[in-house]
Amino acid sequence: MQHQELWIFHLDGDSHFLEDETTKIFARKVADHYSARTNQTLEEREASPIIHLKKLNNWIKSVLIQLYARRGDAVLDLACGKGGDLIKWDKAKVGYYVGIDIAEGSIEDCRTRYNGDADHHQRRKKFIFPARLFCGDCYEVRLDKVLANDAPFDICSCQFALHYSWSTEARARRALANISALLRPGGIFIGTMPDANVLIKKLREAEGMSFGNSVYWVHFDEEFSEKKFKASSPFGIKYKFHLEDAVDCPEWIVPFHLFKSLAEEYDFELVFAKNSHEFVHEYMKKPEFVELMRRLGALGDGNQDHTTLSADEWEVAYLYLAFVLRKVSSPICLNE
Ligand SMILES: C[S@@+](CC[C@H](N)C(=O)[O-])C[C@H]1O[C@@H](n2cnc3c(N)ncnc32)[C@H](O)[C@@H]1O
Repeated sequence: MQHQELWIFHLDGDSHFLEDETTKIFARKVADHYSARTNQTLEEREASPIIHLKKLNNWIKSVLIQLYARRGDAVLDLACGKGGDLIKWDKAKVGYYVGIDIAEGSIEDCRTRYNGDADHHQRRKKFIFPARLFCGDCYEVRLDKVLANDAPFDICSCQFALHYSWSTEARARRALANISALLRPGGIFIGTMPDANVLIKKLREAEGMSFGNSVYWVHFDEEFSEKKFKASSPFGIKYKFHLEDAVDCPEWIVPFHLFKSLAEEYDFELVFAKNSHEFVHEYMKKPEFVELMRRLGALGDGNQDHTTLSADEWEVAYLYLAFVLRKVSSPICLNE
């Protein structure tokens, strides 16, 4: 198969989608934050205070992809960022890839990476699976319409990004409706996102409204000073997240049990959800993933020894979970 040069399509927002100005401003803040993050050279990347955490997260994503992607699959990568997972999909020998991200700078980097035009500091590789890239808001745009000719997809991935949809109920629903409409029955939805149970436990244990360590901090506004959250209003629970050399923007709590119930409304069933610590312990029992960990170099010799991953990075890993959902039946119709 021949490598094809890629263009980026810009998606207009949905004019019927009612959002208040504040929601739009926050979505823009997130987009601007990621857009401004320039590509690092290999040397800069290796010098990062969270380099082993980044490698661990890459291992988690690789394991998910190796477990669930099959040769020839059509992949929908929501909030694909700079295309950091392209190599993982390539290794899984997928047949088609669609990547979408709201951040112009990131999707441009993704295009550069796909085209193999990265500068001499980065690994060059031309990918041969056909792909399309879009710049747009996955939690607002009607992707079922935009991607009608590309669907159905076999697998959808949303890595470290689904929590940006929980600013409002409408956005959380649009995210799930989009994925549900585009996946084939039996199709798989894999992802990673903050573990709300851990965040809320840490908030309750903290003296004030902030907690963290040398590489991250989380801050909740005074409006949550009671540290109680009603199951009846689970959307819009905003906190500020700072992770050295990676993130500095508003994020939203996603109570996992409510996410699971909402996903069921869109025809998904839960395959599993595991905190990253549990995920590491479980899949490090499998020799092929131990070998992958050794190659990526996140956990030293890959034998439960965390010598190369600092305790502070390991604590950040604990803030996240990985999940797998399965689409159970035919696409549902979205309201016009
Ligand atoms: C932590 S990065 C993860 C990027 C990529 N999935 C990865 O694992 O390397 C979060 C990504 O979510 C994207 N994002 C946030 N809100 C989005 C939205 N509403 N629509 C599309 N992408 C969004 C950001 O631009 C950013 O690229």
